[in-house]
Amino acid sequence: MSPTLIAGNDVRHLLLDLQQMKVFSANPLIIREARGVYLTDVDGKRYIDGVSGIYVVNIGHGNEHVIEAIRKQQERVSFVAPLHAVSDTTVRFAKKLTEITPAGLDTVKLVSGGSEATESALKFARQYHRQSGSPAKYKVIANYLGYHGGTMGAMSASGLGGPRKAVFGPFLTGFVHIPPPSCFPGPFDLAGSSCAHPGAAMLEYTIRHEGPESVAAFILEPISNTGGIVVPPPEYFQGVREVCSRYGVLLVYDEIITGMGRTGNWFAAQTFGVTPDILCVGKGLASGYAPLAAMIVRDELHYSAFWGEESQNISFAHGHTFGGNPIATAAGLAVIEVIEKEDLIPKGVSVGRHIRKRLREEIGALGILGEVRGRGALSCVEFVENMDTGKPFADERRFGKQVEKRLIQHGLILRCDPHWIGLAPPLTMTVEQADEMLEVFVKAVAEELREGK
Ligand SMILES: Cc1ncc(COP(=O)(O)O)c(C=O)c1O
Repeated sequence: MSPTLIAGNDVRHLLLDLQQMKVFSANPLIIREARGVYLTDVDGKRYIDGVSGIYVVNIGHGNEHVIEAIRKQQERVSFVAPLHAVSDTTVRFAKKLTEITPAGLDTVKLVSGGSEATESALKFARQYHRQSGSPAKYKVIANYLGYHGGTMGAMSASGLGGPRKAVFGPFLTGFVHIPPPSCFPGPFDLAGSSCAHPGAAMLEYTIRHEGPESVAAFILEPISNTGGIVVPPPEYFQGVREVCSRYGVLLVYDEIITGMGRTGNWFAAQTFGVTPDILCVGKGLASGYAPLAAMIVRDELHYSAFWGEESQNISFAHGHTFGGNPIATAAGLAVIEVIEKEDLIPKGVSVGRHIRKRLREEIGALGILGEVRGRGALSCVEFVENMDTGKPFADERRFGKQVEKRLIQHGLILRCDPHWIGLAPPLTMTVEQADEMLEVFVKAVAEELREGK
């Protein structure tokens, strides 16, 4: 049987992420091949990958340099157990990674996915305080609407409402949520830059009322995806940095999405000019060529609390069998080389700007533009029913999800929410390809506006 030939309803053996499998199995999207910014399904239909898989494939699909690096690594050594040893490739990768992170973030814990990275950060924060004179610090503060992963710790930190979280409770104790720094429409309608200040002040208020002696960390996504590509005002970062430093609270950036060139620099920490104590990166780290993620901490935290003699028993008490897998780190090294050699970060920025400009003009012309948000190669358009009043579409209308069905029909894959749609193509996307994507997008939105109900 040809590898692309799928018999009958074989798909029913799978449980895909958040998919209603009965519906998906009836008309499954099964991809056979991917090159650059295009995917091809088993029937030969072509799709534009307008969201890099899901904010993952930053260098585009089918990159020969990365494929060759993986092949060569596979021939030498494919697995080394992190419990006993480390591969030479993994050592080189970790060193290279610390060359592109903000200064001071030089200790790397490698894992296989974003949830493992954020979970590692939460555990690192708790153990750090226990070993550095503040054993009562265990609480983690996080933003509502934030998403930090699917494992129980990461999900406890996530501030989502709805079925994605609610069906799994009760959650771990010690997690406290505060409103995100969202200006549109924002929990308290804090329009303009004034919304910066409640963000940091809200954090400080919460730390003080929880008891600073009990708070270990504050975790945030520099740009929140599930909240709808929420870009905080730049003052927000300086504000939360100062508050965290004042109360001995570790500041953790979840850069699972924003890392690896997505926001115009390697990391959003550089884009916003404020360095956290711990930075988590996943998705784009190996651009989807292998599962790879990392928690990167300030050297000083590592050396002051975890660096010791065997008798002290203070090593970081956490690990995963596939952490730092040589195949994955070979892919990660090659991905960084591609981004550097092809100068992809500024390319992503300029195409991102072009996308946002066209979205403003063309969704505005349809009369349903709420806001276009984004930074670098990460963009989103939020829809409203009435641009004069800012009234959103009714939740039951599920406007963006209805648009999604039309996008798939027309051969475009994006991140669709009922009220907003995210566009984050590979950094390799050309302006011509972006125009092709936007034509399909605007056509599908206009169709839904005309024909949907
Ligand atoms: C911001 C953020 N953090 C963490 C995660 C979890 O990553 P993974 O799905 O690789 O476990 C995700 C995944 O979507 C994410 O968007």
